[in-house]
Amino acid sequence: MSRPLAPVVAFYSRHPISEGQIVDALRRQGKDLERLAPEDLYDFDQDHYGGLEAVEALGQRAGIDASSHVLDVCAGLAGPARFMARRWGARVTGVDLNPDRAAGARRLSAAVGLGGLVRVVRADAQTLPFRAHAFTAVVSQEGLLHVPDKATTLAECRRVLLPGGRIAFSDWIATARLGDGERRRLGEWMAAVTLQSIQGYKALLAGAGFLAVGAEDLSREWIAILRKRLEMFRGLRADTVARLGQARYDEYDQLYAFFVGLVEAGKLGSRSRSFLTSAGSLTFTPVGTTRSEPPLPVTWARS
Ligand SMILES: C[S@@+](CC[C@H](N)C(=O)[O-])C[C@H]1O[C@@H](n2cnc3c(N)ncnc32)[C@H](O)[C@@H]1O
Repeated sequence: MSRPLAPVVAFYSRHPISEGQIVDALRRQGKDLERLAPEDLYDFDQDHYGGLEAVEALGQRAGIDASSHVLDVCAGLAGPARFMARRWGARVTGVDLNPDRAAGARRLSAAVGLGGLVRVVRADAQTLPFRAHAFTAVVSQEGLLHVPDKATTLAECRRVLLPGGRIAFSDWIATARLGDGERRRLGEWMAAVTLQSIQGYKALLAGAGFLAVGAEDLSREWIAILRKRLEMFRGLRADTVARLGQARYDEYDQLYAFFVGLVEAGKLGSRSRSFLTSAGSLTFTPVGTTRSEPPLPVTWARS
């Protein structure tokens, strides 16, 4: 039975990072909203771990350059998409399920003059509304954790990729130490579903027709990043309370602290070198790639 998507839409409609929060932050900085540059948004529009450095690394693994047409799955407010367009001059199409985020992404991209390179479509990653072979690369950051049917989603990514195109993504990875109760709470509190191990992802990727999968463990880096991120959310307290209410602020603080605790305990992501867990650079080639086709696709996963 397919899982309902309403909880994840609701989760992001009540998230501390939003278009309104970004615009308010820019106003407080005294920015002229009629004359914004992409760089003006960078401190506010990246809803993943590791900021622009992580997008840069992901883009390199995906082989992005000025000739690329990139699909960003679970694109959020299109912060990473705008960075890729600015950094490499690539065309980027983002897909996000949440209508507020998709509309906000479009407005923010237009506001910084990137409406021509960055397009955002409201859609479910499990049924991508694009023709086959439409993209040279697919990327995703901290979004697949919310998508129930990862096998179908990866098959969709494979379908819309050109033969030889690359997929690179980062995601939460569950270790064997993650308990059933903790897994359930992540689902109920953070709309995190069907969390995978690296081995699980490798099997799913192979099933979707990707080869040569590589994975990179980023959990050690993520611990420091997540602690800072918890502080960042706490720094947004006044904003979040004004926008979403004290109860939602308290709820989010509690669930985020729970999540960070799981990573610190090695339950989401492992520090073991012998087993790639929380992050991965999964490198593949689609089945059927020939020598004359472009280089090996890469998926970079982390949790
Ligand atoms: C943590 S945010 C990451 C956003 C963006 N990748 C970034 O790094 O800024 C996860 C995003 O996934 C989106 N999402 C969740 N489930 C989805 C689905 N089934 N299809 C498309 N987007 C989805 C959410 O709406 C949310 O914007």
